[in-house]
Formats: sequence, C-alpha cells, structure tokens
Amino acid sequence: SAKALTGTASRSSLLRRGYSSDSVPDRKVTILGAAGGIGQPLSLLMKLNPLLSNLALYDIANTPGVAADVSHINTGSEVSGYVGDEQLGKALEGSDIVIIPAGVPRKPGMTRDDLFNINAGIVKGLCQAIAKYCPHALVNMISNPVNSTVPIAAEVFKKAGTYDEKRLFGVTSLDVVRARTFYAGKANVPVAGVNIPVVGGHAGVTILPLFSQANPKANLSDEEIVALTKRTQDGGTEVVEAKAGKGSATLSMAYAGALFADACLKGLNGVPDVVECTFVQSNVTELPFFASKVRLGKNGVEEILGLGPLSDFEKQGLENMKSELKSSIEKGITFANK
Ligand code: NAD
Ligand code: LMR
Repeated sequence: SAKALTGTASRSSLLRRGYSSDSVPDRKVTILGAAGGIGQPLSLLMKLNPLLSNLALYDIANTPGVAADVSHINTGSEVSGYVGDEQLGKALEGSDIVIIPAGVPRKPGMTRDDLFNINAGIVKGLCQAIAKYCPHALVNMISNPVNSTVPIAAEVFKKAGTYDEKRLFGVTSLDVVRARTFYAGKANVPVAGVNIPVVGGHAGVTILPLFSQANPKANLSDEEIVALTKRTQDGGTEVVEAKAGKGSATLSMAYAGALFADACLKGLNGVPDVVECTFVQSNVTELPFFASKVRLGKNGVEEILGLGPLSDFEKQGLENMKSELKSSIEKGITFANK
C-alpha cells in the first residue's frame, strides 16, 4: 500500500511526513486489547510513531474512549476505535501489524502458565479473526504465557492455511529492556549504549540473558552475573509483587512493545540491519520455537541469528530451560488442536 508523496496524498499523510521529501509507506497497526493496562500506554506510544498512518484500537470494552482521547494528539496517524466482536473485522482489515496485549495479567503467587486457561482461548479467537481479515499482517504476541500463546497462534494460522512463520513473533523485548537496565546499573555504564541478547522464552528460567555478550563489556564477578540473570528472569514477578494484586508490568511493557513494533515497521519499510530478540519458529535449538536475535525485513523474519558463544553458566541455563519450554510449547499446540 505504498503511496508516493503526490498531490493526492491526504492531509494527514502530508503532516505525518512533515517537511521531508522521503516517501513513507502507509502503515496500519491494530492493537487488540487496546483499552487494557498495556493497551492504553501502547496506544499512546504508537500514536507518537511517525511510521504509522492508521492506528486501530480494539477491545471488548472501553475503546471508544481510549480512541477519542488518543486521537486528539496532533501527530499524523488517524486513530479509530472498535469495540466488540462485530467490529473486530473492521479493526483488522488492511492491517500491516497486529499487536496483541489482550488477556488477563498475573497476581502475586501466580506463574504465567496459570494464565493459560483464560488467555489461550482469547488468543485463539483473535488469531482466527486475523487469519480471516488480515492474513498477511505481522503478529506481535504479548499475551501470556508467550511460550504457549505463540504456538497457539501458529496452529490457528496453519488450520486456516495462512501460516507464515516469518510473520509471527512472541514479544520478549521487555526481557531485553530489563537486562539492559539492570546491567547498566551494576556495571555503572550509561544505559543508552547497552545491549544484551536475551534468548529462550518468556517465563522464569526460560528467560536467558547472555551477559557474556553484553555491550559494552564490564568486569562483573560470577556472583554478579548470577544475580543479574536471576533478576532479569524474575523481573516480571518483581513488578507483579510491587503492584500487589493490581496486575503486572504495563508501562515498561508498553515501551518494550512500542520498540518492537517500531522495529517491525522499519523492517517492513526496508530499513537495513534491524535486529531484535524475539520468540519465533526456529532451528537455533531442537525446540520448535525459541527466542534469539532476529533480523527483521520486508517479509517479517529475514534471518534468525545464532546464539553466538555462550559461557558455561549460559550453556547450563540453556539446558535447564529446555524441558519447561518444550512442555509450554506442546501445551499450546495441543490446546489449539483440540
Ligand atoms: P489488562 O487486564 O489490564 O488488559 C487486558 C485487556 O485485554 C483488557 O482491556 C481486556 O478487556 C482485553 N481483552 C480481554 N479479552 C479480549 C478479547 N477477546 N479481545 C480483545 N481484548 C480483550 O492486562 P495487561 O496488564 O494489559 O496485560 C495483558 C497481557 O499481557 C497479560 O496476559 C499479561 O500477562 C501480558 N504481558 C506480557 C508481557 C510480555 O513481556 N510479553 C509483559 C507484560 C504483560
Ligand atoms: C512481564 O514479564 O512483566 C510479563 O510477562 C508479565 C508477568 O506476568 O510477569
């Protein structure tokens, strides 16, 4: 749907492009669960992204208010709100990227897998609609348990005949965001320049930050690396406990989700060397889905990058996660096919 900057370009697309003569393709992004704790700040952040022309906000309740509110922000994209099943198709039609933060969050004492019974069904229904209304969209799955919801989505798309493994992503960016923050604090380096790959999955020990590949390098002790790894793995629980029954990470997740969607948009637009960690169908290990560094491009996944050299501690972490990750993936596949 690329539209050159011509006399017929809409006012909003001209505004969106500012004074630049570069042509930016029109891009529609749909958020499913847009009125929730993540959905609202994510809607705000996506409204600030100049790569969007159209922001569609869908939820089972309260989206008209969120959409009216966000739509008053004087950035170029057009905002529309959709509520309820009968408007889901319109929300999805023509979408380039669908971001899914729909579903219930954890309370203290729960694991992400405890959300499976409710969220698996929500995700399944939403993915059936994606297969019907925007089968070519990139899907950014935020709803937990990500280790199972991504395999559920894959199975739904396979059944519908629309599956393309290059277009399905579990969003694990928050793990990277946390690893960067915690490492910068410990290593006493400016956080802005820090990068750390986080691989595996998105729950407990399946979250494996590769601090041996941290950039910039710092001289941290083994104990410090162990503590940083544990804190990254338990980052979600840290927030769940601090919120004490009022949900899980929403603001940091919205930030991480907006970063990942921006990377997807850049990839679609042909920006070179866009690399993010994300949970995708993968051959990096024997597991069918795995998070690692992925190069994003015009078709979604352009290249899945390998793990790189691991420390002994990380090798052990990789082995330790495999049985849990395998069973979470299988649980999703079984659910989707029953
Ligand atoms: P929330 O309860 O505040 O919001 C969820 C929203 O989903 C609500 O507005 C609800 O109405 C909506 N919803 C429910 N069923 C729906 C359906 N069928 N269609 C559309 N919308 C529907 O929860 P939250 O804090 O925003 O968290 C949402 C999900 O994101 C949870 O599963 C949480 O565990 C997960 N999460 C993932 C990460 C990650 O790193 N991937 C980080 C934080 C939270
Ligand atoms: C997170 O990592 O913050 C999310 O997966 C939410 C949670 O339940 O921890």
